[in-house]
Amino acid sequence: MNHPIFAANWKMNHGPSEARAFLKTFLTQYQRHYDRTIIFFPPAASIAMVASEVEGRSDILVGAQNIYWQDTGAFTGEISGPIARDAGATVVLVGHSERRHVFGETDDECADKCAAAERAGLRPMLCVGEKLDERDARKTEEVVLRQLRAGFSKLEQIDAFNPIVAYEPVWAIGTGRNATPDDASTIHGVIRDELKAIVGDRARAIPVLYGGSVNSGNAPALLSAPDVDGVLVGGASLNTGSWISIARTRPTAEIAPEELGRE
Ligand code: 13P
Repeated sequence: MNHPIFAANWKMNHGPSEARAFLKTFLTQYQRHYDRTIIFFPPAASIAMVASEVEGRSDILVGAQNIYWQDTGAFTGEISGPIARDAGATVVLVGHSERRHVFGETDDECADKCAAAERAGLRPMLCVGEKLDERDARKTEEVVLRQLRAGFSKLEQIDAFNPIVAYEPVWAIGTGRNATPDDASTIHGVIRDELKAIVGDRARAIPVLYGGSVNSGNAPALLSAPDVDGVLVGGASLNTGSWISIARTRPTAEIAPEELGRE
């Protein structure tokens, strides 16, 4: 398994003052773990605040939830890759299911956003995942592969590129119904094989995260599943207590059976 990544997607929650209070508590209670990376994706207005609070903690990164694909210009309401970078982001979510399904973002737009991230020196975390009807129609692989191929189709220098992928089945987001570790592992394997076709052996080093109703109870088993290199967490990342217990997760393989009963 790659060095695991624990990513918190705050969605439209925690403006600058709440973000600051959250980080103050988090940083006093969560000691640095050298075997993992934490990423916060706050709303755009809180990126600079989070970046300044975590300054000096190389184990904690800050990301933007979205960028526009142009670098500058008359695009009211948008933020660009260079602006996100200037605010302190080093990572950016691309194609989150809410961007795709609430705001109608297309595969082609996701490709433009990945290319914009590349130009800005931001590491994109491309989100892929099937809707419930697509799952029921056994189209999971087809959908995930289409989104993956399209998302990385407009990069200038694929050989030097260092993305992250997040598999987030839409039916598992915010529903309390997570994919089983086996199901996540199967799709992550499919994603890894496709990444091999795109970037060759370097695919092994590309983290593939799982997201969708992750909590402190199911995180150990999900993180123990083959090819699951981390978690992307929405609701359970909003509260310091639940987020800290997720961020401290050890894979079940490292937990004694008698301890598991107490998890
Ligand atoms: P939940 O953890 O609330 O299901 O959200 C998942 C998600 O969308 C993270 O990006």
